[in-house]
Amino acid sequence: MNESLPPISRKVVVVGAGAVGSAYCYALAQSGIASEIALIDRNEKLAQGHVLDLVHGQPYFPTVSIYTGTPADYANAQMIVITAGTAQKPGETRLDLLQRNAAIMRSIMADILAAESSAVILITSNPVDVMTYTAIKYAGKGSEKRIIGSGTVLDSSRFRFLLSQHCGVDSHNVHAYVLGEHGDSEFAAWSMTHIAGMSFDQYCPVCGMCSEWKAEKDRIEQAVRDSAYHIIDYKGATSWAIGLALTRITRAILRDEHSVLTVSTLLNGEFDLYDVCLSVPCIVSAHGIEKVIAGQLPEGEMASLRNSAAILKSANESLGF
Ligand SMILES: NC(=O)c1ccc[n+]([C@@H]2O[C@H](COP(=O)([O-])OP(=O)(O)OC[C@H]3O[C@@H](n4cnc5c(N)ncnc54)[C@H](O)[C@@H]3O)[C@@H](O)[C@H]2O)c1
Repeated sequence: MNESLPPISRKVVVVGAGAVGSAYCYALAQSGIASEIALIDRNEKLAQGHVLDLVHGQPYFPTVSIYTGTPADYANAQMIVITAGTAQKPGETRLDLLQRNAAIMRSIMADILAAESSAVILITSNPVDVMTYTAIKYAGKGSEKRIIGSGTVLDSSRFRFLLSQHCGVDSHNVHAYVLGEHGDSEFAAWSMTHIAGMSFDQYCPVCGMCSEWKAEKDRIEQAVRDSAYHIIDYKGATSWAIGLALTRITRAILRDEHSVLTVSTLLNGEFDLYDVCLSVPCIVSAHGIEKVIAGQLPEGEMASLRNSAAILKSANESLGF
């Protein structure tokens, strides 16, 4: 070890040790990106159990310090990832659930602000766009670049996978984005979809894998939207892919990669939309949002983006914003 080098801390605090938080810890630990992972849950035993289970695998992944945390850990964290939330109770409306999750978000943000943390905060608790907006409003002006939501990073990954399967191309060679709300009004930005450097319209005749491309497009887009419903129906929660998506965003932040990711961010005039969090392509760096890439969208996609914004604004208003 070179004693003259300053210690490099890449500490991540994970709030919520449920299906998502634990899958994220597992993926993050193996990635070698973080130097410390502190796991917090109001169910302390759950956090303790996951920590013990993970550290017993330490000989098989890059060295990282994993422990149960407390709100004091926020103070010197580089990143705080919030996966805490509650599920809908029988008879409870979506609005009631929204109110309860917003209350959880505010209580976690109060602890983060009390610790005077300058960490980048990544939120995944649902509805993620509304929770990201809630956290930004709670933290106040100047926080909008460092508080981001995981948005449609997961949905974009699902979209790339389904396209790769359909076209018989490695998903790493499919560049494609889902934009808007992380939810029912999200949409596939076909105008931004590329394979082998070609737009989809150019690639289709070269590909020749199907004859009814229009119908296939609609089917794939709907399959992306329905993914979470199917997985929750089969196994109760989505966890592995969101854990990996959060790890991908974490890498962009801790390594200052300037990666293009469809995270949820507060728009302030980009795409002519104001005061709403939703997903558009952003450059993500150590600061959080380095830049929103506000390019031109065709009118149909612009209409879908405006539709998502209207739905999310009305959800924000229902919380009293
Ligand atoms: N954005 C996405 O792409 C995406 C994908 C999957 C799940 N989610 C969302 O992530 C959230 C977590 O999902 P899950 O399946 O892990 O749920 P879960 O119920 O398994 O886990 C949530 C955990 O949060 C903890 N918690 C609640 N309030 C807390 C608080 N104030 N402080 C600390 N911990 C607290 C609970 O004890 C629980 O262990 C949900 O809101 C879910 O809808 C988002």
